[in-house]
Amino acid sequence: MAKMGTSSREAAAIVVMLGFVLSLAVVCNGGKTSSFVRKEKSGVMPLDSDVFKVPPGYNAPQQVHITQGDQLGKAVIVSWVTVEEPGSNTVLYWSAYSKKQKSEGKVTTYKFYNYTSGYIHHTTIRNLKFNTKYYYVVGIGHTERQFWFITPPEVGPDVPYTFGLIGDLGQSFDSNKTLTHYELNPQKGQAVLFVGDLCYADTHPNHDNVWWDTWGRFTERSVAYQPWIWTVGNHEIDFAPELGETKPFKPYTHRYHVPYKASGSTAPFWYSIKRASAYIIVLSSYSAYGKYTPQYFWLEQELRKVNRSETPWLIVLMHAPWYNSYNFHYLEGETMRVMYEPWFVKYKVDVVFAGHVHAYERSERMSNVAYNIVNGICIPVKDQSAPVYITIGDGGNTEVLATNMTEPQPAYSAYREASFGHATFDIKNRTHAYYGWHRNQDGYAVTADSMWFFNRYYHPVDDSTSAQ
Ligand SMILES: [Fe+2]
Repeated sequence: MAKMGTSSREAAAIVVMLGFVLSLAVVCNGGKTSSFVRKEKSGVMPLDSDVFKVPPGYNAPQQVHITQGDQLGKAVIVSWVTVEEPGSNTVLYWSAYSKKQKSEGKVTTYKFYNYTSGYIHHTTIRNLKFNTKYYYVVGIGHTERQFWFITPPEVGPDVPYTFGLIGDLGQSFDSNKTLTHYELNPQKGQAVLFVGDLCYADTHPNHDNVWWDTWGRFTERSVAYQPWIWTVGNHEIDFAPELGETKPFKPYTHRYHVPYKASGSTAPFWYSIKRASAYIIVLSSYSAYGKYTPQYFWLEQELRKVNRSETPWLIVLMHAPWYNSYNFHYLEGETMRVMYEPWFVKYKVDVVFAGHVHAYERSERMSNVAYNIVNGICIPVKDQSAPVYITIGDGGNTEVLATNMTEPQPAYSAYREASFGHATFDIKNRTHAYYGWHRNQDGYAVTADSMWFFNRYYHPVDDSTSAQ
């Protein structure tokens, strides 16, 4: 009896011990929660700020911005706004190796409650040469303004390329710092992957669309010279039945065009592009994504189309993160995760960038695809076929930082910090990419969090930054 008592005590001790070890493994083995604390407070930049200045001259083009205009990077959509009169829709463009050419576009306007937009021009320039610097002029016939951009290299598996990552930018003093840090980052981003929430006009009374115009002028210094790849966020919805405005995304779709038809999409909220060695899929957290919806059908086909021997890097952009250990916006991405995560694992997505949460977080490679409603298996597990999830909704916004985190830090969360900043994803070749997150309080070259990404198709070995 005594012997049995001892062994049962031992067994009980082992069970307790095991439980303790397991709980450590599941709960306490999280990554790093940064101890960095921001000191200053920010606010929306006033309307008379220099960054919002209207360019001088009669009917001068303002809010000039470009984005990729086709699937391969041989076309560019040039957009701008004129105020006094419609003026010309022509873009004049040339390179050092070609004579001047012209491309014609279209002009549109819209009304939102008591606001009437300026004349919004969109002109697509096609058949450009890869890897070439082009100059372009808009405002022909009135005040002309000249800009330039460099087309990407031809799509191919070992083409190096550096993407910038910005989310939830807004137009606060912090937003201005974020953009400046991106511009002065020696890593030199060649195109921005923007993960939604542009100007936050909807946070002003009556969604005052004047703030769409100021944001267009504020960001021109970057986006007139390199494409920003757009993702929609909740602040682009502008659904305001109390103002008689019931068409979602009205200001956004008038102002920001994307090449969605080129990837077989039926709406500008989900689409894909290829750029250098990357295949970039943009999803909409705020359009239907359940089974049988247009976005679902499109993504199902789209993932099959990705040819990793042409574009080794598979990147997905969305606004609401699937994995988020802050209390703010907790679980808002959950229903989309349930729908699409098995596909992301199956097709070995390298990285998912999201915004929405005004803070920074990077996950380990893990998945949570075993769960169904009856088995109760709902803890994310390490998975080398799964993407790294990065939340980079810390552009500056006009709200506040999300500082409130769930505790303890979950095992899958590698690094989290409530600071404003931006990141770069620097593809070296088909196997390696260097990722770095920059907080605004550091020097331009400093990475506060970084990781060497190993490509999931060509080099699928563990690239976790946590202690092994
Ligand atoms: Fe958001």
